[in-house]
Amino acid sequence: MSKTVDGAEVAKHSTKKSCWIVLDSKAYDVTSFLSDHPGGAPIILRNAGTDATEEFKKYHPLSYLNDYLPADALVGSVDPNTFGQLRQPKEEKAAPASETDDSKEVPHVSLCVAATDFEKAAKAVLPHKSYIYASGSANNGLALKGNIDDWGRISFRPRVMRNVGDVDTQRKIFGHSSMYPFYISPMGTMGAIHPEAEPEMVRGAVRKGAHVVVSTASSKTSEQIMQSWIDEQARLNNGSPTVLFYQYYMPVDRKKAIALMRIVKKCGYKGLWITVDTPVLGKRTADRYLQAEEALAVGIEEESTAEWEAGGDNDFAPAMGGRPVQGQLSPHTTWEDLEWIRKEWEGPIVLKGVQCAEDAKLAMEYGCEGILLSNHGGRQLHTAPSALMTLLEIRTYCPEVLGKLEIFLDGGLRDGNDVLKALCLGATAVGVGRPFLYALGAYGTKGVERCVDVLAEELQTGMRLLGITSLDQCRPEMVNASRLLNEMWRPEPLNVKSRL
Ligand SMILES: Cc1cc2nc3c(=O)[nH]c(=O)nc-3n(C[C@H](O)[C@H](O)[C@H](O)COP(=O)(O)O)c2cc1C
Repeated sequence: MSKTVDGAEVAKHSTKKSCWIVLDSKAYDVTSFLSDHPGGAPIILRNAGTDATEEFKKYHPLSYLNDYLPADALVGSVDPNTFGQLRQPKEEKAAPASETDDSKEVPHVSLCVAATDFEKAAKAVLPHKSYIYASGSANNGLALKGNIDDWGRISFRPRVMRNVGDVDTQRKIFGHSSMYPFYISPMGTMGAIHPEAEPEMVRGAVRKGAHVVVSTASSKTSEQIMQSWIDEQARLNNGSPTVLFYQYYMPVDRKKAIALMRIVKKCGYKGLWITVDTPVLGKRTADRYLQAEEALAVGIEEESTAEWEAGGDNDFAPAMGGRPVQGQLSPHTTWEDLEWIRKEWEGPIVLKGVQCAEDAKLAMEYGCEGILLSNHGGRQLHTAPSALMTLLEIRTYCPEVLGKLEIFLDGGLRDGNDVLKALCLGATAVGVGRPFLYALGAYGTKGVERCVDVLAEELQTGMRLLGITSLDQCRPEMVNASRLLNEMWRPEPLNVKSRL
């Protein structure tokens, strides 16, 4: 039996030399863990001597405690009568006045008529740190800008007089019908965006018939998220055809990697989307500023930036003021790993983060069922190519991939018409990230539903104006991609080793 400890005693341990925190009514001595914490020491020190349960739950399931804290960190159960003696956490720094929305008023959800409108609404309500997390990108933001700009650099070549009274936007992903050819991209740590986190996002998607890819770095467990899907399907009882896929950050430890895959399989996720563009975390500049400010606020000077190279990815870790979660993704992953993964996972495998034609071809050779052309929303490699640019490369250098694999794109997609462009060029479906995250932050499930509606309406109108009634009619000649093609990479004449 663990011993009982007073709140007053816990409160005394609030320094770098002796740091205790309370999680789920138990006190833990995390002093030795400070330097290892994937989210950095400042966030723990800010909560030292306090009950940090609610703060912790925003980012991780409580089960993480067993995975990451050493067994001897447990000091004991906190006497419930002494909770009042704990320290109160330091107030989070408010967003700089210049960066907040003028009014802090959230517009009525029906005033969100474009997917880009949700950002302003979210910025007005989210804590500064959460907004930085959602909006952040790599280095000076050029990859994110390129993603957004490239959609606008392809134009349509519409046909007229085609009887477009009724249009059908349905699409199948690995045989699973969705009402739409877009899905919600995996984004970690939704607890920082909405108190109900991923289940709130899933409920909105189910209500509208959109598929969701769930992140390994979710705030809730894979089981909890799947349960929210099951409950919502049962509640609606309308045979809504959505499914959940699972985005997989491969744990470094092979045993843990296999155990995680088994949980995912048991839960009923319909496909494994292995993220491959994150051997290390990209440089999230806005997070770095936040980290430095937080560290200075608790008296710690910024550690060497080289430390940031150290580990896997949680995608929220930097905004928490530190390094990515160790053990969540291995920089040592190679193509050969697909062989043992395939033995464990019978369903479809998608590689998320393919960024050139050579790797698209390799994915096909290694027997993947799909590839997601993505630069992680411009959050990883500085000036990485947009998904559209990669798609054009594939069309030019290895078009056979298009017939063999399901092809997905994401990054910067903000309009239903962009979806159409991708489909004309051979995509199966596209992922949408930040707009759904902002919609969730500002309006919860209602926002998610609204975001689906906005994109769907644009898509339907786009189909009619393009002269098609079903997505099967999308053809490459319906778009003019010559501006992007002019800039597409061409092999050097001497590049004899190219695998193309
Ligand atoms: C806040 C945030 C968190 C993300 N977390 C993950 C993640 O946990 N795993 C992953 O594979 N991709 C993650 N991504 C990348 C998205 O899956 C997707 O590739 C990207 O958001 C698409 O770009 P968009 O936001 O411009 O639509 C994240 C993106 C954002 C914005």
